[in-house]
Amino acid sequence: MRMRYVDFLAMVGLATARREYRPASLKMSCSQLVRDRIDPLVNPGVLGTPHIHQIVGGNSFNTTMDPLTHDPATLSTCTTCTFTDDFSNYWTAIMYFRARNNTYHRVPQLGSLFHESAREGGMTIYYFPQFINPKPGTIKAFAPGFRMRVGHPDRVHPVNESGHPRPEHKPTALYDGITYTCLETEGTRFTNLTSSFPPHPCPSGILTTLPFPPCWDGKNLDSPDHQSHVSFAEGGTVGYTQGGKCPASHPVMIPQIMLETRWDTTLFNDPDLWPEEQGKQPFLWSFGDGVGYGHHGDYVFGWRGDSLQRTFDRVDCSGDQICGLPVQTIERANGCFGERRVVEGVDGWLGEMPGGVVVRD
Ligand SMILES: *[C@@H]1O[C@H](CO)[C@@H](O)[C@H](O)[C@H]1NC(C)=O
Ligand SMILES: *[C@@H]1O[C@H](CO)[C@@H](O)[C@H](O)[C@H]1NC(C)=O
Ligand SMILES: *[C@@H]1O[C@H](CO)[C@@H](O)[C@H](O)[C@H]1NC(C)=O
Ligand SMILES: *[C@@H]1O[C@H](CO)[C@@H](O)[C@H](O)[C@H]1NC(C)=O
Repeated sequence: MRMRYVDFLAMVGLATARREYRPASLKMSCSQLVRDRIDPLVNPGVLGTPHIHQIVGGNSFNTTMDPLTHDPATLSTCTTCTFTDDFSNYWTAIMYFRARNNTYHRVPQLGSLFHESAREGGMTIYYFPQFINPKPGTIKAFAPGFRMRVGHPDRVHPVNESGHPRPEHKPTALYDGITYTCLETEGTRFTNLTSSFPPHPCPSGILTTLPFPPCWDGKNLDSPDHQSHVSFAEGGTVGYTQGGKCPASHPVMIPQIMLETRWDTTLFNDPDLWPEEQGKQPFLWSFGDGVGYGHHGDYVFGWRGDSLQRTFDRVDCSGDQICGLPVQTIERANGCFGERRVVEGVDGWLGEMPGGVVVRD
C-alpha cells in the first residue's frame, strides 16, 4: 500500500507538532542538472576529473567556481531544486554494476518517495536543525563562498566518531553516518541499513544517504581538504545526532544537509548476474569503490540573499517543509539542465569505467 505523505513525514520525524521553537526542516526535490566528469571543488579548472558525478542545483555549475567571484545565486538562471531560492550545487559519484564478464553498466536513478518525477531521479535534499531546541537565531546559514565535502573516497573501513577505523559498523538510523538502505519497498526507512553496499539483492533498489556535518569553525569558508572547517557533533556519530554539542573548535551550528539518492538496482537482481564468489556483490561507485565505505558528497552554497538564514530564524514554520520559501513544481525544475562538458560513453555496457577508473574491492 502506498504511503501517505503526512505519514512519511511523521515517520522521518519531520512533522513535529511541537510548540517550542524548532527551526525549519526543509525537504526538497532536486532533479539532475547533468552527469559530468568535472569537480570545481576538488579539481577546479579540470575538464575530465578522475571520476564521473551526478550534479543537481543551479545551472551556473562549472569546472571552476571561485569562491570569491562565482556566486551561484546571481550567475544561475535556473535551479533543478524545488526551492527556487536555492542555486547551490550538490554532487556525488554515480553507481555502476559490474557483470561477471567484467563489463560495466550505469545503475539508473529513481526519484525517491514523492519525488518520483524528478528528471534522472535526482536527489532528495534535507536541511535539518541538528540540535533540539536551539535558541532562535543560533543556527547560522552558510555564507557566500562556503563549500564542503563529506566522506573519503579512499576509505576502505567503517570509522568511529573520531575517524578511526573500526571493524564493523551497523547503522541504527538513516542518519547514522553514510548509509545504504536495502529497500524492501520504496518507503523502507531506518531498517535494512548498512554502511557498505548491501550484501544481497534489494527488491526496490538501494537508497543512499550522505549527512554533512552540522558544526562550523565560524571562520573559514573552505579548507584544503574541504572538511576540516566543519565537524560532526561531540558525543554523537558521524551523522545526525540529536542532542549532540558542537565542539569548541567548531562552535557554530549550521543547518545539517543530507543528500538522499535512490538507485534502481532492481534491473540487476537476477542471482545469475551476481558474482559467483560467495559474499561478493556487484555494485561499485564511479571512483572504483566496490565495497562502499568511500561514498562521499560535495556542496557549494548558493542560496539567494539571506533566504536560508531567514528560514532558519523563523519560529513558526515547524514541520511545514516550506516555511514561506518560493517553490516550483518538479516538472518545472526538470526544465533546468546543464550541458555535459566531457562527452564520453557512460551508458550501455562499457568495457571500462568512465575515466578508466580502476576497480578496487
Ligand atoms: C563556464 O565557464 C566558462 C569559462 O569561464 C564560460 O565560458 C561558460 O559560459 C560557463 N558556463 C556556465 C554554464 O556558466
Ligand atoms: C556481459 O554481461 C552482460 C550481463 O550478463 C551482458 O548483457 C553483456 O552482453 C555481456 N557482454 C559481452 C561482451 O559478453
Ligand atoms: C575510535 O577508535 C580509536 C582507536 O581504536 C579509539 O582510540 C577512540 O577512543 C575511538 N573513539 C570513539 C569516540 O569511540
Ligand atoms: C530487512 O530486514 C528484515 C529484518 O531483519 C529482514 O527480514 C528482511 O529480509 C530485510 N530485507 C531486505 C530487503 O534486506
